[in-house]
Amino acid sequence: MNTPLEMKQKILALSQKPSLRILAMESSCDETAAAIVENGRKIVSSVIFSQVDVHALYGGVVPEIASRAHVDACDRVIDQALKEAGMGLSDIDALAVTYGPGLVGALLTGVNCMKGLSYTSRIPLVPVNHIEGHVSANFLTTPDLEPPFLCLVVSGGHSHIVRVNDYADYTLMGQTVDDAAGEAFDKAARVLGLNYPGGPLLSKLAENGDAAYLTLPHPHPEGKYDFSFSGLKTAFLNACHKMEQKGEALPKADLAASFEQAVADTLCERSMLALRDSGLNTLCLAGGVSANRRLREQMQGLSQKHGFRLCLPQIWLCTDNAAMIGSAAYYRLRKGECAELSLNAAPSLSLC
Ligand code: KG4
Ligand code: ZN
Repeated sequence: MNTPLEMKQKILALSQKPSLRILAMESSCDETAAAIVENGRKIVSSVIFSQVDVHALYGGVVPEIASRAHVDACDRVIDQALKEAGMGLSDIDALAVTYGPGLVGALLTGVNCMKGLSYTSRIPLVPVNHIEGHVSANFLTTPDLEPPFLCLVVSGGHSHIVRVNDYADYTLMGQTVDDAAGEAFDKAARVLGLNYPGGPLLSKLAENGDAAYLTLPHPHPEGKYDFSFSGLKTAFLNACHKMEQKGEALPKADLAASFEQAVADTLCERSMLALRDSGLNTLCLAGGVSANRRLREQMQGLSQKHGFRLCLPQIWLCTDNAAMIGSAAYYRLRKGECAELSLNAAPSLSLC
């Protein structure tokens, strides 16, 4: 084990090393993932073990089952990430782990696993905020991306507009006042009889639908850059229930397309306002919902029309993975940050 002084000396030595290799772990929800990332930008290996099939049986993530599945998988994904990279722990400069926000039991599994590895291997451990991880997925996809830029982070638990002032330095411009965008997608999908996670399934269904079929409200909460999805979701559920009560068959593809359009419209409208007021010229998307085809296409259209730079992570880097955690950890490590062995899970951790 390293004493705190030895750990500080190691971090100082690492800060002078030109190239850094980080082994990262992610376990905040229902994916157990490990990855090795070089200098915050290059993915050497990435392993994602998804628990979706188990949770789909219950129509959503069951926290207790998620924690147990993480315990089973965490050693395996780490071993596999090292194997795929053709490396051993002696090739790794630092470890990284998501410590929040997320499900407490799920987070604790990853945190304890990486604390144990850090203790026995004497490799420093960097704690990472999951939302910061999502933002950093953009550094992996767009090699020349540098702050400052604006980032729309839309996932199952969060909908934020964040100003990325510098590496690991953020200002929150807006956020959802109720449901997250992904949560709204999942609930709308359930009404259409789709399984968990509903977002991607609803999006697939929407491909053959008419987005003009149903006009849904576009809520405008008080905060200029805030979102609200609760009213939109309720209007959608009510419209579906009314049709069912009248014995009408649900035009599922049209309903899916109309819902997707309303969410994309809201996200685009607020992001455009924030981008204009921020004076920035680069907008990045991040989080599971940024995999949505309609949202990506709509943003691309706006980028061409208004002439700003749009960065979209590769689809697989939008949803939870450990590579994005390894990228975020690199910039924290460069600032000399490292966890003590008292590190705990922080389920409600905020970004800024
Ligand atoms: O970022 P993520 O993997 O996990 C969280 O941090 O929450 O996001 C998962 C969310 C789920 O709600 C899922 O339905 C949604 O992202 N999602 C999508 C799509 N792919 C994933 N929503 C709409 N369209 C998609 N293609
Ligand atoms: Zn996530």
